Amino acid sequence: MSATSESGTPTLYGASRSRRITVRDLQEAKARGERWPMITAYDALSAGIFDEAGIPVLLVGDSAAMVVFGYDSTVPITVDDLIPLTKAVVHGSNHALVIADLPFGSYQSGVEQALQTATRFMKESGAQAVKLEGGQRVLPQVEALVAAGIPVFGHLGLTPQSVNVLGGYRVQGRGETGEMLLQDAKALEAVGASGVVLECVPSDLAARVTEILSIPTIGIGAGASTDAQVIVWQDLVGLTEGPAPKFVARYADMRSLMAEAVSSWADDVRTGSYPGPEHSYS
Ligand code: KIV
Repeated sequence: MSATSESGTPTLYGASRSRRITVRDLQEAKARGERWPMITAYDALSAGIFDEAGIPVLLVGDSAAMVVFGYDSTVPITVDDLIPLTKAVVHGSNHALVIADLPFGSYQSGVEQALQTATRFMKESGAQAVKLEGGQRVLPQVEALVAAGIPVFGHLGLTPQSVNVLGGYRVQGRGETGEMLLQDAKALEAVGASGVVLECVPSDLAARVTEILSIPTIGIGAGASTDAQVIVWQDLVGLTEGPAPKFVARYADMRSLMAEAVSSWADDVRTGSYPGPEHSYS
């Protein structure tokens, strides 16, 4: 059964809040041509805000390595780092599908390792799906996870866990490598993946992949034709520092807002105007 809006129209965004979105809902959205947003979340408070805003899918990305833990890549983050964040996102939301990223080194060595890691995420955090990076090289893992009852999302194009091989965060899939990416996407679908993230790939390639696959494509820096778009929430609201990648649209300037609020409070503490009588107990 599809999630429905107040008017009864099938939709994911702002759908009925009686249950969580499922991968089946996403499949049905693709079939009816409905686009949807996915956003990262790493804690209960932000997850609750995004859930209330009607965002149907929350990703506990290994981007937490950078935006939560302050590393300069996603490589160092561990399963033990990510499980508590995922648990918090599940606790903070009651409507969105929660996808947990499997971090670098937690699935590459084979099917057994992938099963152990994904099972931990499903049991200990309550996530309803997992995501892992790669195409051909992780097909056995994807197949085994799906067979074990775990919905899996793939991630192709710029795969940040491979930044040291890729030689930086650059566009992938130009020229002949685009065909390989297309084959990877088809192979992921064939072994049962529920969707594929396409990161930093040319728009026309993403459009071809989206056209060919019957599972949803989720773009980040992949143009306008994908079935869904994903973004790191701190990028979206302008919390992250410095120049952003081309695909980031800043919808707010939270960094300045927060800095101003904290500076004003600090000034008030220094001058003694905070706390006032209204903030004090008699
Ligand atoms: O870790 C992450 O946040 C991601 C998205 C950018 C797709 O993988």
